[in-house]
Amino acid sequence: MKTIAILTSGGDAPGMNAAIRAVVRAGLDKGLKVMGIQRGYSGLLNGEIFEMNRNSVSDIIQRGGTILKTARCTEFKKEEVRKKAAQILKVYGIDGLVVIGGDGSFTGARLLSDLGVKTIGIPGTIDNDLPYTEFTLGFDTALNTVLDAINKLRDTSTSHERISIVEVMGRNCGDIALYAGLAGGAESIIVPEKGYNLDDICRVILDGKQKGKLHNLILVAEGVGGANDLAEKIEEITGIETRATILGHIQRGGSPSAFDRILASKMGARAVELLVEGKTARVIGCNGMNIIDLDTTEALAMPRKFDEKTYEIAKSLSY
Ligand code: ADP
Ligand code: F6P
Repeated sequence: MKTIAILTSGGDAPGMNAAIRAVVRAGLDKGLKVMGIQRGYSGLLNGEIFEMNRNSVSDIIQRGGTILKTARCTEFKKEEVRKKAAQILKVYGIDGLVVIGGDGSFTGARLLSDLGVKTIGIPGTIDNDLPYTEFTLGFDTALNTVLDAINKLRDTSTSHERISIVEVMGRNCGDIALYAGLAGGAESIIVPEKGYNLDDICRVILDGKQKGKLHNLILVAEGVGGANDLAEKIEEITGIETRATILGHIQRGGSPSAFDRILASKMGARAVELLVEGKTARVIGCNGMNIIDLDTTEALAMPRKFDEKTYEIAKSLSY
């Protein structure tokens, strides 16, 4: 292993820059040449490849987004296109590739490894939707962003004695809603893994009113969606003014939390170690703060597990 490259793919996530920094510096430390690839697999196909040094990653550990830019590249699903990508990597003398992204990006990396390129995946997505790892990079920061928004919404909801519905990201995964709901003291949490019953939600609201609650907070995952419709229905049934806030892409930005920076640094360093050991088609994850790595195919085949226990705890603490 003489030359490695790094790219970011799919939706950006806070902590990606900290991971890029770790890969670049750990690679240089091991005497490797490190190349950066811009705009994910699209940039790879366009030859947007440049050499990186220690200074290329100065002053980025605290920044959200990705200095390498990111993209979605649907044509990468075609084998002939991936063959071209493998050829381009060969032209640049790149033997190992670190891909920071989610399951789609990892599928691309795994297929690339079939073509002789050594690939290692680092999980970067706010969604926390990769079952093989306890946390993905960006999830903790996104949670804190949601919490900050919830705190602000609580101020205005309490003043007006309103119900506040907050719709958060996560694709088909309810983790952002669940954990932000628990940390934010939400009265109800609506996730795609559990669905919901409108009568139950309204009962919680009306019981809360009787007990003297001044406001009500409902977290809805985007995989369920429909925050505005839900607000209308709840207002109609309970007679209490209800407002919906869809947080959107604000959840994807911002300076990464300490947790995400530490995880990113450890994962980046481990990715380089694996490449130096000659490993391929592996993805990095974590069990708490312990770094683990698994075969990519096995990792992607793992069934999604919903954290029922935390869901029940959140429910029992909400009133
Ligand atoms: P994420 O990596 O966050 O899951 P996407 O699902 O959008 O994000 O995937 C990111 C990119 O990974 C896609 O634009 C594409 O380039 C690549 N990719 C996704 N699925 C596949 C696949 N089945 N085969 C090859 N490449 C894929
Ligand atoms: O995967 C991260 C994510 O932010 C999801 O939570 C969301 O559904 C999606 O990406 C939004 O994608 P885009 O940035 O293309 O609108």
